[in-house]
Amino acid sequence: MPSATAFIRGWFSEPAPTFEIRKPSARWGTPQPHQSRRQLRVVEVVQETPNTRTFVLEPVAGTAPLTYRAGQHLTVLVDAGGTTHRRCYSFSSSPAAGQRPAITVKRMPDGVVSRHLHDHVRTGDTLVATDATGHFTIATDPAAARKVVMVAGGVGITPLISLAETVLREEPQSQVVLLCGNRSEAEIIFRQRLARLEAEFAPRLVVRHAVDVASPGWPGLAGPLDGTRVLETLGDTRADACYVCGPEPMMESVCAALAGAGIGRECVHTERFAYATANTTRIPDHTAEVTFAASGKRVTARAGQTILQAGLEAGIDLPYSCTMGGCGACKVKKVAGTVVTSEPNCLSDREREEGYVLACCSYADSDVTIDHH
Ligand SMILES: Cc1cc2nc3c(=O)[nH]c(=O)nc-3n(C[C@H](O)[C@H](O)[C@H](O)COP(=O)(O)OP(=O)(O)OC[C@H]3O[C@@H](n4cnc5c(N)ncnc54)[C@H](O)[C@@H]3O)c2cc1C
Ligand code: FES
Repeated sequence: MPSATAFIRGWFSEPAPTFEIRKPSARWGTPQPHQSRRQLRVVEVVQETPNTRTFVLEPVAGTAPLTYRAGQHLTVLVDAGGTTHRRCYSFSSSPAAGQRPAITVKRMPDGVVSRHLHDHVRTGDTLVATDATGHFTIATDPAAARKVVMVAGGVGITPLISLAETVLREEPQSQVVLLCGNRSEAEIIFRQRLARLEAEFAPRLVVRHAVDVASPGWPGLAGPLDGTRVLETLGDTRADACYVCGPEPMMESVCAALAGAGIGRECVHTERFAYATANTTRIPDHTAEVTFAASGKRVTARAGQTILQAGLEAGIDLPYSCTMGGCGACKVKKVAGTVVTSEPNCLSDREREEGYVLACCSYADSDVTIDHH
């Protein structure tokens, strides 16, 4: 069980945790020709908390509407220092509410793209992004009557507020319990929007806030929102589906607690925003050949080089987005050989069983063959 301070540390820590797993070159980017790019106008910038801003977007005139499902994310491309950096940002708006598409970004003090968005992007500017992607979604059914539990840590609220509002609007008999953890009251993102939603949908929506550092008179939960507190707060609430997004220690603790409470893994959906911080992976210290079956191209992956890096360097048009095992865009099927992959990542058990690997955080441990490409 993480200590009190460990809760949001993984996500909010300053300085950043140590990252032995990957080298900074893992985050470089090159254009991705087969994935369509689009231009989005920033029509409003909203300061949500001291270090979080929402960017409300619309397609530039004459381009296709920006369609997305609740829980999905955009990949934003930002040019800086001669490199195109790409980062995923979940939609914080709900398509079911008729809201304009919006992303909400936490400014990382040493972050390339989040700092750029906060410090340089203003209303009227244009962002370059790819179409919406992601599987952290929910298939709504107007006839459903289910109870959905959502646990958000910090900026992990972004996909969850979109999912919560979508479920409440599209499933009139379903209920949502949304537990939000933050370091302090000042850092609660969407506090007023959540209060308005609660007023509109009570008793179908219950929102509970927890803060690590509670000021006198704080009406919510005091202390970190870890697995124990989540179970205490839920009591005997039934959960048909759980959605969890936040810092890694919180996610680990909450997922373990949900499993301990008998909630099946298939009912628990997670979204990871940050690098794997646990150095559990032995990265091969030798070169290996990677063959891309469709093109027949054979590439030598250097020691410490991911399959994605090796493939892109050789000019292979591999899909990717977050480059940190969080979005699934770089998923490829391995048909031969052995790889090691940084954990945790977003692959499901089933995808693992079927031989899928994430090229952005997998290293060839023997000669490897990748299907397609
Ligand atoms: C599916 C998904 C959805 C997301 N949604 C949101 C969202 O809604 N809102 C939001 O604010 N963020 C979201 N993120 C996180 C976001 O994509 C960025 O990772 C985040 O904004 C930081 O990017 P940056 O360029 O500012 O920081 P970076 O420059 O990437 O740096 C971030 C931290 O990582 C460290 N770092 C940099 N490079 C490496 C490396 N190669 N290896 C290890 N550590 C490194 C840095 O020192 C720094 O502490 C999401 C991520 C995913 C995968
Ligand atoms: S690019 Fe996002 S998981 Fe690999």
